[in-house]
Amino acid sequence: MNPEDRIQELQDALHRHNHLYYVEHAPEISDYEFDMLMKELEQLEEKHPQWASENSPTKRVGGDITKKFEVVAHEHPMLSLANTYDTEELEAFFKRCKEGLGQIPEYICELKYDGVAISLKYEEGKLVRAVTRGDGTEGENITSNVKTVRSIPLQLRGAGYPDAFEVRGEIFMPLQAFEALNAKREANGEELFANPRNTTAGTLKMQDSAVVASRGLDTYCYSYHADRQEIATQYDAYQNLLDWGFKVPKAADAMVLKTQETAAIFDFIAQWESQRHHLPFEIDGIVIKVNSFSAQEELGYTSKTPKWAVAYKYKAEEVSTELMDVIYQVGRTGAVTPVAVLDPVQLSGTTVKRASLHNADQIAKLDLHVGDHVYVEKGGEIIPKVTRVNLEARQGKSLKPVRFTAECPACGTPLQRVEGEAQHFCNNAVDCKPQVTGRLAHFISRKAMDLEGLGAESVTQFIEAGLLQKPSDIYNLTPEAVLQLERWGEKSVENLMQGISQSKQQPFTKVLYALGIRFVGETVAKKLAREAATISKLMAMGQEELEAIPDIGPRIAQSVVQYFSQEKNQEEIQKLREHGLQFELDESEKKSANGVFNGLNMVVSGTFTNFDRESLKQQLEKEGAVLKSGVSAKVNVLVAGENMGPSKLKKAEDLKLEIWSEEQLLEKLGLSGD
Ligand code: IVH
Repeated sequence: MNPEDRIQELQDALHRHNHLYYVEHAPEISDYEFDMLMKELEQLEEKHPQWASENSPTKRVGGDITKKFEVVAHEHPMLSLANTYDTEELEAFFKRCKEGLGQIPEYICELKYDGVAISLKYEEGKLVRAVTRGDGTEGENITSNVKTVRSIPLQLRGAGYPDAFEVRGEIFMPLQAFEALNAKREANGEELFANPRNTTAGTLKMQDSAVVASRGLDTYCYSYHADRQEIATQYDAYQNLLDWGFKVPKAADAMVLKTQETAAIFDFIAQWESQRHHLPFEIDGIVIKVNSFSAQEELGYTSKTPKWAVAYKYKAEEVSTELMDVIYQVGRTGAVTPVAVLDPVQLSGTTVKRASLHNADQIAKLDLHVGDHVYVEKGGEIIPKVTRVNLEARQGKSLKPVRFTAECPACGTPLQRVEGEAQHFCNNAVDCKPQVTGRLAHFISRKAMDLEGLGAESVTQFIEAGLLQKPSDIYNLTPEAVLQLERWGEKSVENLMQGISQSKQQPFTKVLYALGIRFVGETVAKKLAREAATISKLMAMGQEELEAIPDIGPRIAQSVVQYFSQEKNQEEIQKLREHGLQFELDESEKKSANGVFNGLNMVVSGTFTNFDRESLKQQLEKEGAVLKSGVSAKVNVLVAGENMGPSKLKKAEDLKLEIWSEEQLLEKLGLSGD
């Protein structure tokens, strides 16, 4: 057989076996046989790249690196769902549907998967684009990452699908994959991920699709959009999507129910309320939709949600377990946070061993004793928290109350608590290990010095080898010294050296943020840098002068003054300066300080004829605008392009914000044609 035909044959076979394994869970060949076919295809495609296609099964293993995801507009806005929490609200929804349609409609009930929404566009049977929800109007094109999700078809099966259509669904991380990932991170001494949903969101935005491929993401599809609607109902859409190779809920697994009886819907909800803990992934409720597409259109939409669907959300689950100990974590600023060590317990499908306790006041408020039985709850996005003590379980026992530690758990320095603040601090900034590591990790992070070639894990290795202690040490590293370390070879050292030298070009605003001054986040750093223009001027500014800068309050001002008053910080800045880091605004940053939009908070929405969104945003920032993601009272101007979400526009109008069209914007920028 000639290589072209063999490549085609292998692609077809691998698409089919992939589907059998990841969607139908009914493989016909062994993993080994699958790997052998994949290897053969990889080799053939490498030899004959002209026949390797964009959607070959070899794309599943990833490898594409995307530095910046392109922002693209959705063809139809990606709305959200109205939430209900009790039977009454749900009854009201049924009533509205009945009244709106003049009869009781048929409903579909399905699970509300707790992941990340994705829009998948297919043309001629091939996945051509995958976009995140974003703000609902536009999202990010993350196609190369999504191609690694094995249960998303790259090439459709069967026949009868439209030439072009869109499918939406939820990408999530199964619990097993999540726990395995965290176990690995724990073993490597890395910070643990809080929950599967956030981990999925983070994973899908990673630059290296090979890492995405390794994370075991999965999906379910929940909606179908085609220009010519030849399918009449949601339920039929599922049947078609299934035939074309998509992963959709099946009635046989009780994951979808079609019914006109509201009693059956309440049963479905009750059933899954307990059964959900046996699912291999997290759900946070049940979605109820009107089945017929024409009835859906008849009921219509509000600005944010369809009127034909509703989510019934389950309450956060709470379990009780024993408090074994309280340990303390030290952050890069020296803040000490208490963490509850628990007798491991199953909560919404994951094993919980730790829960946050916030600060000393919280411990006192809970009246916590070691050995207590405590209730733990998982909130939306956060790590589980201890909500209350089971006082009945304490009866008859003599337990010791938890006393907040007096010394730093890492270095033994007596802790201090500033009047009026909730947190305790370790002041041994120079030698306290977690602070040293945390500061360096912050300094090199993407939003700060963006030091490529050095990861947070390597920081620990470098510190232990005595090569790093403070940021300026990075600029004294030599290739010879790094080569001595385990896992460092010529290539990685070369990358590191290049990364170090490139980081010297990071603008002043980033350098200022990288210093890690308490309360000086990205936005504050920008404001301070723009106002002072040079580090010398900033260092000379007093409390009052700082407070005169818009949005700089006494807390930030005090922290800045205190930081620069310390000799060791002055010395460190001097060293970084000598190494050539940017401590003054450069010309383009200066321009933005005097820009036409200086100090204006702006929101950009919709699509534009003369700009793509990224370059527009850059231009606005260059002119001094501060870009915000959502419309709020703090925003001054909404720049409204084509096809922007109606809800945003309405909100902006309600808040009486200034709204500029693209033409008005061009005029203000001095770019208009006439
Ligand atoms: S239907 C108009 N069905 O929940 C929105 N959404 O809160 C139609 N979700 O953004 C969405 N499971 O990401 C639908 N079975 C399901 C779902 C589901 C999870 C997510 C989806 C949506 C969010 C809304």
